[in-house]
Amino acid sequence: MRNRIVCLGIESTAHTFGVGLAAAGKAKTAISAPAAAKNGMRRKILANVIKQFTTKSGGIIPAQAAEHHVEVCDKAITEALAAAKIAMHDIDIVSFSQGPGIGHCLRVGAAAARTLSLVHKKPLIGVNHCISHLEIGKLYVSGANTQVIAFEAGKYRIFGETLDMGVGNMLDQFARQIGIGFPGGSQIMRLAAKAAAKGGKYIELPYVVKGMDVSFGGILTNIKRKYDSGSYSKEDLCYSLQETVFAMLVEVAERALAHTGKSELLLGGGVACNTRLQEMCGVMCEERGAKLFVPERQFLVDNAAMIAWLGILEYLKGTRTPVEKSAIRPYWRTDEV
Ligand code: FE2
Repeated sequence: MRNRIVCLGIESTAHTFGVGLAAAGKAKTAISAPAAAKNGMRRKILANVIKQFTTKSGGIIPAQAAEHHVEVCDKAITEALAAAKIAMHDIDIVSFSQGPGIGHCLRVGAAAARTLSLVHKKPLIGVNHCISHLEIGKLYVSGANTQVIAFEAGKYRIFGETLDMGVGNMLDQFARQIGIGFPGGSQIMRLAAKAAAKGGKYIELPYVVKGMDVSFGGILTNIKRKYDSGSYSKEDLCYSLQETVFAMLVEVAERALAHTGKSELLLGGGVACNTRLQEMCGVMCEERGAKLFVPERQFLVDNAAMIAWLGILEYLKGTRTPVEKSAIRPYWRTDEV
């Protein structure tokens, strides 16, 4: 085996079509699975090309997003290889997001990965999108998935999750309802910050934590009614929404830390870009003497560098996805991996 393993990863679970290149290896010694398991393994992201499908009003139309992914597919692959200054023959493995995600979108990435794997005779590896967001995951907050995950006894386990929609989807839906566009989360953050600068007028909203789980559907209905009544400003509503749902997430994350006895919290997913959520998690961690980790933005949002990186880890553990078993898994759960 070569000293370096390079993986081309493809992400296409929802809005984003991405192509990432990750490399792992040691300068002079060959890589083995145990070597990879050690933290000392050198890793490098060689490219992270992100192409996003957007609509004027926000939201996603699956068939159109899939069409977008088909259109940008070749270009994204070419751009990623050019950015890394390598060619297909330098690639050792091809990985792709096998799930969870939107079927229309997943199919495009899976087809592209299968083709590259067959044409260039490279092993194919289907990886779980949620797990790719994290190496040792504690908190996962994003569009369609909201989960508190801990790595316990050799497996990712879900300690708490949303009972209905993901927090990111909820924020996007509210943003769309009040006409502030896409991506909804960052627009809400901007308006909330305006309200906070004026002292922050908190409007009471339902707070829905059930054991270790959270639920956002009722909050969305409630806040929409408040908006429709015309008695509240967009800024105050956004501020109150963030304060409420982030407090719920922080509460569940704190309980997971207490329960598992862990002392580190890692944020992942698009919503983790929100500086208010980061701040609230920071306060909680400081109070408990825990450490907070927030990856760089390009690795928080949906991207393929994380798919490529997980591809390498899975490869070194012996995972292979034969083409006949490479069907997409739109409902693939984190704890099934
Ligand atoms: Fe994601």
